[in-house]
Amino acid sequence: MALSCSLNRYLLLMAQEHLEFRLPEIKSLLSLFGGQFTSNQETYGKSPFWILSIPSEDIARNLMKRTVCAKSIFELWGHGKSPEELYSSLKNYPAEKMVPFLHSDSTYKIKIHTFNKTLSQEEKVKRIDALEFLPFEGKVNLKKPQHIFSILEDYGLDPNCIPENPHNIYFGRWIADGQRELIESYSVKKRHFIGNTSMDAGLSFIMANHGKVKENDIVFDPFVGTGKASRKNQKWRGPDENIRANLRQYGLEKYYLDVLVSDASKPSWRKGTYFDAIITDPPYGIRESTRRTGSQKEIPKGIEKCPESHVPVSLSYHLSDMFFDLLNFAAETLVLGGRLVYWLPVYTPEYTEEMVPWHPCLQLISNCEQKLSSHTSRRLITMEKVKTFENRDQYSHLLSDHFLPYQGHNSFREKYFSGVTKRIAKEEKCSQE
Ligand SMILES: C[S@@+](CC[C@H](N)C(=O)[O-])C[C@H]1O[C@@H](n2cnc3c(N)ncnc32)[C@H](O)[C@@H]1O
Repeated sequence: MALSCSLNRYLLLMAQEHLEFRLPEIKSLLSLFGGQFTSNQETYGKSPFWILSIPSEDIARNLMKRTVCAKSIFELWGHGKSPEELYSSLKNYPAEKMVPFLHSDSTYKIKIHTFNKTLSQEEKVKRIDALEFLPFEGKVNLKKPQHIFSILEDYGLDPNCIPENPHNIYFGRWIADGQRELIESYSVKKRHFIGNTSMDAGLSFIMANHGKVKENDIVFDPFVGTGKASRKNQKWRGPDENIRANLRQYGLEKYYLDVLVSDASKPSWRKGTYFDAIITDPPYGIRESTRRTGSQKEIPKGIEKCPESHVPVSLSYHLSDMFFDLLNFAAETLVLGGRLVYWLPVYTPEYTEEMVPWHPCLQLISNCEQKLSSHTSRRLITMEKVKTFENRDQYSHLLSDHFLPYQGHNSFREKYFSGVTKRIAKEEKCSQE
């Protein structure tokens, strides 16, 4: 049955990448621009077609100025599971909402978008001709039309089982495209200066969007890294190989505040709420080690101490301690409503939701998995500060049921390498057979 038309229904055409990250991105951006996420659709699993209610076209446009997960947005004029259903849904769409875009002085074009099927030119023309009943009075202009309309056909997700007829057909007025092209223009491949752990551009935008970052926000990355030379066998960085120069490359230098060399386990900040967002990719101990500074006293017994020196010794920094410090730091220094967005490495066979570090001042907003290998993944955790930090909050996680499973992160490195080595051995064995 065709969905009945209601006010301000929009169709989002989503990119088929980073599927788990899409819903939190759209929800975060909508709440940033004053439009709560509302929809009649029950799930937002894998389909690229999402129907949403958005309060205004301005909010829809703002959403598209930021999203990297959505390709385009359309004002939805009709939807059905067959051409007949689509046409009857279109006939029910209020004429007064169509007329401003169809009058005789206007120019327009109709496009066809299919998912999981390619149509011939003849089939496309047939579909456009079938819309003759719509009160189009303007002139067709294929090069520079004032208004673009789209027929979107959904042939499901299985490339090995493409149905004859689409599962769903939509018709809408195109409003705006998202920011997918940023993924290419900001690609680390094109960046002047990179480190060996530089974050992929698409995921970086997703992280900023999950963090609801907006203009004039102060954003901090406690594990910003990129302190080493990025080229092989090069010990020193060139004068323009730094984070400021990277921002300059994109015309963003005015947003750069500074970088400080400091150990994240011993934050050097005065007490206060400085940050609108903390967005970070902490070390997992795989390509970059997890180390923290320590004093001579902290060196375990049995290990020879160096003579007293002002140079801090480096101690191994357990992952669970690092996340505990990070959450406490975020709880202390974020403004209320500010967000912490970070990657949590997990060994998938042992992962449970209880492993996600917890804090009384931070509410979990989303938890999205990116697979790294058959047995490891990292999860993008987004938390929002919902309560002012008090000193007693600092250790409350120790009392929670979460604490023990959460300590399981400590052996991630060993598990990562044991799994990898086993897999490589297996693959080698298979290729020799
Ligand atoms: C996964 S990388 C993130 C890198 C960053 N996204 C970039 O573009 O280079 C983690 C970084 O944290 C740094 N790190 C390790 N232990 C640290 C500590 N105790 N305090 C601050 N940074 C640390 C590592 O050197 C590494 O550069």
